[in-house]
Amino acid sequence: MPEITRHDVLVIGGGLAGLRAAVAIHDAGHDVAVLSKVYPIRSHSGAAQGGVNASLGNHPEGHDDSWEKHAFDTIKGSDYLADQPRAEILAQDAPARVIEMEHWGAYFSRFPDGRIAQRPFGGAGFPRTCYAADRTGHQLLHTLWEQCIKRGITFLNEWFITRFVTSGGRVVGAVAMHVPSGELAAFGADATVLAGGGYGRVFAKTTNAYINTGSATAAAYIAGARLEDAEFVQFHPTTLFGTNILISEGVRGEGGHLANAEGNRFMDRYAPSVMELAPRDIVARAIQTEIDEGRGFEGGYVHLDIRHLGADVIMSRLPGIRQIAMDFAGVDPIETPIPVQPGQHYSMGGLSCDEDGATDVPGLLACGECSCVSVHGSNRLGGNSLLETLVFGKRAGDRAAGLVGGGSASDGALSAALEDARRSIAALKSRGGRERQDAVRREMQSVMTEKVGLFREERPLAGAVDAIAGLKERHRNVSLANTGEPFNYDLIDTLELGGMLELAHVTAAGALARTESRGSHWRTDHPARNDDDWLKHTMATHVEGGEPAIGYEDVIITSYEPMERKY
Ligand code: FUM
Repeated sequence: MPEITRHDVLVIGGGLAGLRAAVAIHDAGHDVAVLSKVYPIRSHSGAAQGGVNASLGNHPEGHDDSWEKHAFDTIKGSDYLADQPRAEILAQDAPARVIEMEHWGAYFSRFPDGRIAQRPFGGAGFPRTCYAADRTGHQLLHTLWEQCIKRGITFLNEWFITRFVTSGGRVVGAVAMHVPSGELAAFGADATVLAGGGYGRVFAKTTNAYINTGSATAAAYIAGARLEDAEFVQFHPTTLFGTNILISEGVRGEGGHLANAEGNRFMDRYAPSVMELAPRDIVARAIQTEIDEGRGFEGGYVHLDIRHLGADVIMSRLPGIRQIAMDFAGVDPIETPIPVQPGQHYSMGGLSCDEDGATDVPGLLACGECSCVSVHGSNRLGGNSLLETLVFGKRAGDRAAGLVGGGSASDGALSAALEDARRSIAALKSRGGRERQDAVRREMQSVMTEKVGLFREERPLAGAVDAIAGLKERHRNVSLANTGEPFNYDLIDTLELGGMLELAHVTAAGALARTESRGSHWRTDHPARNDDDWLKHTMATHVEGGEPAIGYEDVIITSYEPMERKY
């Protein structure tokens, strides 16, 4: 690989959002390269299970569905923190994006009349979640990958971004490390689309893959992009006890019941009208309350029971869940309930951007989980995440295509950034001392899980902010056990940890500051939503060597007056 290469647009991230953006850029006639730290079909999008929302109205009970109802459910589910015109775009564009995937060959499950099958999901007034059994993300990812291959799009696989290159306040590319060789190179572009996914690995118990560290998000934050609403962390109600592998909401959508150790179906005390199909924040808190009040099983879990669905339904619609339960918990759900507990799953917050992906930093766009277009507000509905990748991936790609020709980096800017990256890695490799990255990482994960979890309170949150500041200090003293070049994961983990600590710091500081309960953010010391003071977005700006600077911006409210959220 030459030291410096150029493309019209650089996409960072090979998951669904990045691939959809790349297709849009290519189809607009531009040269695009996708840089991904793993081979793209190993992206975490492939782990998405239950489905993708669109108001197709295919379900016998869903004929009256509409994009307006989808938008309303999304805004209500967000506890009114979503920017309403953007939630409307998500719902409006959904049918076209899903049908497009069907036409590109996605292998959706079907109703007997041949139309795409749809199942109920939490917080949705109609069954509108389109699915491919319980492997929807895998299906969509492979379909988009095929579309990229067919177009001959350039892929830079196993390249890990170390920093963005800026010139005159504009992002003009990135410096990245080739994981197999350790080689560094600079990539210049007129526009850069960041689609780096979530950062669930800052928590100990998460459905997220090991790759979900938010490395590119942190690099963008350090380069000047603001982080919005990071305190809103989604805890999925049903992750497998022991490993926290996702057990899809589709299980409850198909009729699965939750039961405590006393054998009671407890959701009637938390969301009597919708039971297990309440939004995730409500179901997750209900499960955790059962566990905390002594009605869970030893170790901290409840049962998810699908035995009544029968073997045929389980094997045709939930085959992946059955396999996961058998392989990782030793139970066959046809005969035995699945042990589940809540676990971190998704970040509603992310890089602040508009509906076309434009961040605060010229030349840098964002889409997918790393972004905060603000369609999910304080709580995302299941099935809206895969949808966001398709809708806002395309829109960010279209916008990036419009920026081509608007100015790229000089060789000087790119080679200066490359030299600087080389110097800082050499300095890290020559650092002495006994501090190791894995110990710091584990401590961060346990602080975040214990103090910034489902139920939050001032003292633990303040303790978390202090603890993360201390861990940032320790990270500055980390030395490497491996100073070699190829596949140096000691180096990569150390670099990633620096970014994870920045993101953890913003999450904890935002949660400490927000003295109300809204959606996923539940303060036991402030248990009510407070629209007078807190109907606003948290905006965090990076301060080198210090605390994040926190400010606030108004929520965009148009058609839907905030109401009390009841289910
Ligand atoms: O439960 C699930 O299948 C996950 C879906 C989602 O996060 O949207």
